[in-house]
Amino acid sequence: MKILVTGGAGYIGSHTSAELLQAGYDLVVIDNFSNSAPSALRGIKTITNRDFSFYQGDVTDQSMLDEIFQAHHIDGVIHFAGFKAVGESVQEPLKYYHNNILSTLVLCKTMARYGCKSIVFSSSATVYGNPSRLPITEDFPLSATNPYGSSKLMIENILGDLFISDQTWRIALLRYFNPVGAHKSGLIGENPKGIPNNLMPYIVKAAKGELPQLNVFGDDYETRDGTGIRDYIHVVDLSIGHIKALEKLALGSGIFTYNLGTGKGTSVLEMITAFEKSTGQKVPYRVGKRRPGDIAACYADPGKAERELGWKAELDLEAMCRDAWYFSVKSDQI
Ligand code: WQD
Repeated sequence: MKILVTGGAGYIGSHTSAELLQAGYDLVVIDNFSNSAPSALRGIKTITNRDFSFYQGDVTDQSMLDEIFQAHHIDGVIHFAGFKAVGESVQEPLKYYHNNILSTLVLCKTMARYGCKSIVFSSSATVYGNPSRLPITEDFPLSATNPYGSSKLMIENILGDLFISDQTWRIALLRYFNPVGAHKSGLIGENPKGIPNNLMPYIVKAAKGELPQLNVFGDDYETRDGTGIRDYIHVVDLSIGHIKALEKLALGSGIFTYNLGTGKGTSVLEMITAFEKSTGQKVPYRVGKRRPGDIAACYADPGKAERELGWKAELDLEAMCRDAWYFSVKSDQI
């Protein structure tokens, strides 16, 4: 089976590409390096000792997609390519809608034209907005609080309408909670350009002294220690969830939605403690104001993925912290 991975040099894309190769799939990657680097491709090859086809380009580029689908018989697509910074999406909504929506439309139309109707889509728990209760199951109400989240919700609806129009499609919508960590080799991981938006890469840079301190965004939430609670999931567990979703789609047509989380909530202060304990590194921090748009708590009920995909997150918080730190240290050595 040959799988096209869009955004395959990115954080989750590179880890999923490595899992695909190790599971025996053949791989084609397209990436424009807007939020990734060629080093990830080298890391995938070193980890797996396997080669694959790579196209540097944009998923909105019809001619490049035609080139790929004419050169390869693509059995399925995992679609990661998209912008994903919540704050940036508020500042630049048109950039987000154009990139995230148009790339999906061009991709799906091209897939249909070449008879490929199996797609795993990288969605996000952000489509649940501010949940009224926890844990979250897949039938919870959906809403968006920013253009990034709206683009994810729109794409889920587009894929839903596509399935209604042609029920031979095989579609998996994977709603990620908070991906963190890195491959244990230290060869691929999260390497955001500039100042990180997300907690774990910020903790790592603060521990390394690259940033003066972590700003804890509020300690007055209605949570056990006042800081925000999230469902952090190791990126390798998340990647394996994609392999399981592909196996599900190989069984037959349909549209399937799954939460990929651990089912456990961790607060910001608990994450700081876990990081210090598992890495031996101090995390300088101060408590500041809430970040606009943040919610108090969010964590998954991952039972449906466990029942229907035979998938369950295995790696714990210590592994997430240890692997994130090791990747950061190893990146400095390369
Ligand atoms: C986690 C917790 C913050 C940074 C977003 C997107 C989601 C997904 C993951 C793309 C919160 C606190 C954070 C910091 C802090 N992205 N925090 N100081 O906001 O849950 O989710 O990223 O797929 O779709 O919505 O993740 O890592 O930004 O924040 O105190 O410098 O850490 O308040 O409680 P978030 P996050």
